[in-house]
Amino acid sequence: MGYPHPTHPKEQAVLSKHFGDAGARTFDGWVKRGGYEGLKKALGMTREQVIEEVKASGLRGRGGAGFPTGMKWSFMPKDVVKPHYLVCNADESEPGTFKDREILRWTPHQLIEGCAVGAYAIGAERIYIYIRGEFTAEHKILVKAVEEAYQGGALGANVFGSGKRIDLVVHRGAGAYICGEETAMMNSIEGRRGNPRIKPPFPAVAGLWASPTTINNVETLSASSHIIREGAAWYKALCRGNPKSTGTKLFSVCGHVQRPGNYEVVMGTPMTDLVFDMCGGMRPGRTLKAVIPGGSSVPILTAKEIEGCLLDYEGVVEKGSMLGSGGMIVMDDSTDIVYQVMRLARFYAHESCAQCTQCREGTAWTTRILERILAGQGKKEDLNLLLDLADNMTGKTICVLSDSCAAPVVSAIKKFPEEFDAYISRARTSSLVTA
Ligand SMILES: Cc1cc2nc3c(=O)[nH]c(=O)nc-3n(C[C@H](O)[C@H](O)[C@H](O)COP(=O)(O)O)c2cc1C
Repeated sequence: MGYPHPTHPKEQAVLSKHFGDAGARTFDGWVKRGGYEGLKKALGMTREQVIEEVKASGLRGRGGAGFPTGMKWSFMPKDVVKPHYLVCNADESEPGTFKDREILRWTPHQLIEGCAVGAYAIGAERIYIYIRGEFTAEHKILVKAVEEAYQGGALGANVFGSGKRIDLVVHRGAGAYICGEETAMMNSIEGRRGNPRIKPPFPAVAGLWASPTTINNVETLSASSHIIREGAAWYKALCRGNPKSTGTKLFSVCGHVQRPGNYEVVMGTPMTDLVFDMCGGMRPGRTLKAVIPGGSSVPILTAKEIEGCLLDYEGVVEKGSMLGSGGMIVMDDSTDIVYQVMRLARFYAHESCAQCTQCREGTAWTTRILERILAGQGKKEDLNLLLDLADNMTGKTICVLSDSCAAPVVSAIKKFPEEFDAYISRARTSSLVTA
């Protein structure tokens, strides 16, 4: 079965190599494909050696912030006085992002193996995989795989005869986007309301049940076992010359491309290669207008800006946005930018945990102003009001949910002012939002 489209570059595939191959889902199937070799190799190394190898590979967190993974692991205390925990973030609720879901769906043992490597490295005997509540089929697949991993000796009291205990608990979320934020996630696992915690203390010092904890994304952990099996040098070489952004990355591409889906490419691949070659470009008769490159929480890039934009952490920052989770929302010339950013603001307003005033009031107020503009009741001053609100929503709250709402709105006003003006001058009307 070709997955997901004939143009998908299988030769670059590390994480997605077995997507679409149902035989890779079982424990035996995963072992037949070279699975669990990375974990076995890790167990023969010291914890420090595993961390050093991951550090040397250049792997950075794939959950959004791009923090170096080996360094994050090294923050965990060396002595295990209190229990240590590894939390795998499988909440994936960001609009436009659907890559972790694919790992869970096709290669659950790839994730379990990566989790076990991470747990061993940080001295954790217990892993929690926090899976988005709506991932019903993936939850079923994962739970079955965990049972098989226990039976096959990859989890339990004596992992592959090493004398090391590693247990894994699958914890189901209940549909709140905010629980993807790492400290809200820990509260949720503890049975509390999923509100982000103030940092410091950082999770490596006081995380789950006030014990040292590391939180990593599904894709990050999945990559770690490949790094141990093949070596840091192999991983580091998977890039187009930028040593700060190494390895492969899964991109979820949605919106107005002809072939939406998940694509794995080496870091540094030109964004235009992904959008126009792999994804087939725009629908017939349409041209590209804009892309939100990192989920929905980052500034919008115009068609002009994506020319020459390299898909790695630095390449996207250079163009004024961020790589984020690697979820790309592609918009063609039929897109109403004002309507699209209103829909995003509405999402953030709905998902705000409401702890911080700037976020609770700011996301709701931003939505109301955008709705008002779309309904033909906008005023010239509204644009400055939106920018002022965005300023108060950026860098001033416990977590970055309100920053995430502000970023696409500010970039839309700055890069597509004529679309706002058209509504405010009543030259344009929308049937989608009424007063
Ligand atoms: C509102 C919000 C939602 C988030 N949702 C996710 C998510 O669904 N998955 C994820 O991996 N990280 C998410 N993050 C980032 C996590 O807090 C954390 O940085 C990440 O899981 C760390 O893993 P990494 O170092 O492997 O990237 C979110 C952050 C915020 C502020």
